[in-house]
This record gives sequence, C-alpha cells and structure tokens, in this order.
Amino acid sequence: MWIKSYQFTYQRLVRPLIFGLMDAQTAHERILSFLARADQRDWVQHAAQALYRRMAPIEPMQVGGVSLDFPLILAAGFVKGQGFATEDEAIQTVERGENIIPGWRTMPNIVGAVEFGSFTRYPRLGNAGQVIWRDTATHSTQNRVGLKNPGARAVAQFLAKHPPKKPFGINLAVSPQVTVPDQEEAELVESLQLFLDTGVLPDWFTLNLSCPNTEDDPRGHQTEEKARRLCRTLLEHLDAIPLWVKISPCLSAEQYAKLIGAFAAEGVRAVIATNTLPQPTPNDAQVTGGVGGGRLHTAALDATRHLMAARREQGYLVDVIGCGGVLDAPSYQDFRDLGVQVVQYWSALVYQGLWAYAVILRK
Ligand SMILES: Cc1cc2nc3c(=O)[nH]c(=O)nc-3n(C[C@H](O)[C@H](O)[C@H](O)COP(=O)(O)O)c2cc1C
Repeated sequence: MWIKSYQFTYQRLVRPLIFGLMDAQTAHERILSFLARADQRDWVQHAAQALYRRMAPIEPMQVGGVSLDFPLILAAGFVKGQGFATEDEAIQTVERGENIIPGWRTMPNIVGAVEFGSFTRYPRLGNAGQVIWRDTATHSTQNRVGLKNPGARAVAQFLAKHPPKKPFGINLAVSPQVTVPDQEEAELVESLQLFLDTGVLPDWFTLNLSCPNTEDDPRGHQTEEKARRLCRTLLEHLDAIPLWVKISPCLSAEQYAKLIGAFAAEGVRAVIATNTLPQPTPNDAQVTGGVGGGRLHTAALDATRHLMAARREQGYLVDVIGCGGVLDAPSYQDFRDLGVQVVQYWSALVYQGLWAYAVILRK
C-alpha cells in the first residue's frame, strides 16, 4: 500500500515536475545539496529509518561475504563527494567541519546498503560543463563525470569522523592518467591503507577496473593479467574485508571467462557486472559518456550470462552481482533468471526516486 502510493506519487507527480523544470545535471546537483542539508538533521534520519522498515521486505541474505537486509545495493557514483583541485584544499574543508560527501548519512538510512566512491588516491575535479544527461524514452542516464571525488586521504579523514551506517562498501579506482603497473598498484595500496589506518572499515572494497567516462578505452585495460595483479596486490593488504571487482559491458565471452577465473584464483568474493556503456554524448558525438539504465540493460545481462556460465562450468565461488538497467521488478527478474541474487542500481533513482529499491522489490 505504502509502496503503491509512493510509486504513483513519484511517477505521476514528482518525476514529471522534476523533468519539466530541470535537466538531469541540475536535478542531480539539487538532490545532492538537499542531501547535504539532510545529513545534518537528526529528525530526517529518524524519518528515513522509520520509512526504511516499512518500504523494504527485510530478508537477510549474503553476497560476496557481506550480509544485506535485501538484495539491492546503491551502486557507486551517487554518494562519492565533491571534486577538489588539491589534497590540501580537500583536507582543509574536512577540518573546517564541512560535508564533503553529501548523502553519507541520509542515503544509507533511506536505501540500506550503499557503495561509496569511486575514490582515487588524489582528488579530481572531474570534467567541466554538462556531464549528466537523461534519455527519458529509454529510461537511461548518461554521464561523463570523470571520476570527480575528494581523494582517498580526505575521504578517509571524513569517514573516520562520520562513520556511515553499515553495510557499506568503498569503491577504489586508479587515476585515469596512471598507466604504469607499479604506479597503479602503489596508488591503490596507498588509498586502501589510508582507509584502514584511519579505522574506516567498510563491509567490502570494490576495485573499479572499468572507468568508461574518462576518455580511456575501458576494454583494453581489463586484461586478465592486470586484473590478477591489482587484485593480488589489494588482497595482500586485506585480511577480513572482502574484495569485489567492477567490470565493463561488451567484453568478449572469453574475456569474461578469463576475468572471473582470475578473480576466483586470487580470492575475489564478487564481481559487479557492469559499469556503464560508452556511447557518444547527446551534445557532442566526438565525446563519449557512460550510459546506464534501459540502454545498458541488454549488455549488462549479456556480461552476466557469460560470467555465470563460466562460474557454473568451472565451479568458481565468486558471486556475480548484476548492475545495469535494474529499474523495476521485471528488469530485476531478468538478472534473477540468470541465477543472480543481488543487483546494484543507479539510474532507477532518477526514474523511480529515492525509494526505487521498494519499487524494484515490489512483487
Ligand atoms: C552520474 C553517475 C556517476 C557514476 N560514477 C561512478 C563511479 O564513480 N564509479 C563506478 O564504479 N560507477 C559509477 N557509475 C556507474 C554506476 O555505478 C552503475 O554501474 C551504472 O550507472 C549502471 O547502473 P544503472 O543502469 O542502474 O544506472 C556512475 C553512474 C552515474 C549515472
């Protein structure tokens, strides 16, 4: 009843109003500034928690070594913080007591499990200009945010002062300009260590092997050799916290089989399939941006199918977490039909609102 009323109100009133009044990027910025204010209000947190218990059928379950209340996780890229030009500036902002990660408190109270990040070792301002679009006809989003984030040191300091509600994950990425193997490993280990040393112990870390909106070719970079090397390096520094890896859509069946084989051999607990699909952006066909939502769904299902086939054939113990165009119950069911239990979502927030998980889980 609650969920039906929510769905009706969001789809018939709130969504047309937001879409009519502002573009995707403005809407995203407004929601983040609302969340930054909400993070400071105890009454908002109490209200969010009370609604959480009503909106979600709590069915405790496990994926990738993590316990969840239900099988949906908010994907990386929503709760990831502001961009900064320098580490000093980011740290001074934390020291002044400002909120550099809008939603750090409110989103876990609203949606449950959240993957924070992606975070790189050093802060990034991300790409300038318009970087987020929506394609309403296909219920898709597109972005070229460009890994905007405060950098691992400032994030670790901030989260040490403001521990998020569990379960939460931290998604780590190598800076796009870093391509030398030793440097890639050094960046990841430094980032990881900054979290561990400040006592920020998430329920899982995710290695983001796929950064499609930074003008890199995501496919060329997700080799078996690189996956093994980076996972091994991270796992040497992780005792009890599970490691997950996030990969791209549109790799070959053989490549998915090799990657999941590498993850199984190294002790990775889950693979997230997938990140966004690189396509030309609406206002400049020469520039690519990552597509999520409806237009990603088939490619994400294909990736999942290949991973699940290799997992079954080889008896790998790596869990596969679906991600891509989970917008409602049928699109969630598409992943379940492949044997996947848990999915992540991002674009559903745009098309179904903050309580998208309740709509997706609605029978
Ligand atoms: C604006 C935006 C920013 C994103 N940033 C990140 C990121 O920093 N790291 C990451 O791993 N994925 C990022 N993603 C990808 C999502 O986590 C997710 O993989 C993708 O949107 C597919 O899910 P969906 O179809 O439910 O949107 C971002 C997505 C959007 C729309």
